[in-house]
Amino acid sequence: MKTPSLPPFDHQPKPYTGPSADEVLKLRREFLNPGILLYYKKPMMLVEGRAQYLFDDKGRRYLDGLGGIVTVSVGHCHPHVLEAIRRQNETLQHATTIYLHPNIAEYARDLAAKMPGKLKVCYFVNSGSEATDLALLMARVHTGNFDVIALRNCYHGGNMSSMGLTAHSTWKFNVPHSFGVHHAIAPDPYRGQWGRSEPEAGKNYAADVKSLIDYATSGRVAGFIAESIQGVGGCVVFPDGYLKHAYEHVRAAGGVCIADEVQSGFGRTGTNFWGFETQGVIPDIVTMAKGIGNGCPLAAVVTTPEIAAAVTQRVHFNTFGGNPVVCAQGRAVLEIIEREQLQANSLKVGATIMAGMERLKAKHQVIGDVRGKGLLLGLELVKDRATKEPAKAECAHVLETCRDMGLLLGKGGLWGHTIRMAPPMCLTEPDAAFLIEVLDAALSSL
Ligand SMILES: Cc1ncc(COP(=O)(O)O)c(C=O)c1O
Repeated sequence: MKTPSLPPFDHQPKPYTGPSADEVLKLRREFLNPGILLYYKKPMMLVEGRAQYLFDDKGRRYLDGLGGIVTVSVGHCHPHVLEAIRRQNETLQHATTIYLHPNIAEYARDLAAKMPGKLKVCYFVNSGSEATDLALLMARVHTGNFDVIALRNCYHGGNMSSMGLTAHSTWKFNVPHSFGVHHAIAPDPYRGQWGRSEPEAGKNYAADVKSLIDYATSGRVAGFIAESIQGVGGCVVFPDGYLKHAYEHVRAAGGVCIADEVQSGFGRTGTNFWGFETQGVIPDIVTMAKGIGNGCPLAAVVTTPEIAAAVTQRVHFNTFGGNPVVCAQGRAVLEIIEREQLQANSLKVGATIMAGMERLKAKHQVIGDVRGKGLLLGLELVKDRATKEPAKAECAHVLETCRDMGLLLGKGGLWGHTIRMAPPMCLTEPDAAFLIEVLDAALSSL
């Protein structure tokens, strides 16, 4: 098999002089929890990153097709981001929010300026799971209701409250965590009852939210939470109108609507800055993480002044949330998305990849579905297009083969059978051509 060539790139990685990958693996096995996941039969060690590329300990370059799991939004080690955090690190690293600092206030103002409607009040935390937990608290305290509707096939994090919302057996430990959470049918046009040719699909799927409210709760709910595109679930894009109808049912039952923008926010969908905008809705609470910080521990919950007031009923404190260094980084990320027009780039290069994936689907029977928006893309693999039996081993093989050829990808879906792509938003057209060429070769090797 001929290995496609990565587009040229003018960066020489520093010679790596640290412990070998085998030594690091040994240390990990001895001193790190075995539950911490590793990809690939032979785990790889990445020691440097620049823009859309990563370098391993041998200096080999890879195209980062997964963006550090949908996190590296503006590119690895972006010089503007580096400069912003260098300046802040040299001045003050931490003092907490009990004192004033300009970074958290100015960053909140800039982030709020990107939000529609009354979504103007920010609370910074450290991870998506924490953001989910806080959003849930706000919904419950604000409404005085307890029950929450989430979606099957969703992922909202790994702490106890977000694990309760998450709906994949893979990620749910056998302990009590889902009390008061009800999971509606996933509005999945590929696997669900209503496909893309059904004009009422969005409305039909949303009827299950109403049905759950009527049958599984007191009729009053605290809220509804949904990723705007289900990422871990395999990049499932909802039919038009789904969120609009679901929100109507939830608000009629006294609940607030939470949009999880951890993967779909910050321009990644190309057409819009926020994923929920692709569905024409305005949520009451928005959670953000990952791409917000381009790789630093930054996350946020943004809501309306009325809902934000819920958190004043008791003391709520987060030691690192809104730390001056991460706020400097978050602000620099917003500036780069704007300055380098990365949303428009996601739209353009994402369209090229999507067209390439459609061509691959016409050629390779193992591809059951291609989907996504902008640079949040999925390729669902099936053993048989009629039965849609998940092609898990084939997906693992494609991932391994792509890695051998210099392309790093992710996987998702309940059975780990969907290839996921979410590269840094600075991806170029030659990168897109390389990605498709590598995928084609890997699929041909099945
Ligand atoms: C949609 C979504 N929400 C929440 C989370 C949880 O984020 P974290 O891993 O930062 O806790 C994730 C993580 O993958 C996610 O994809």
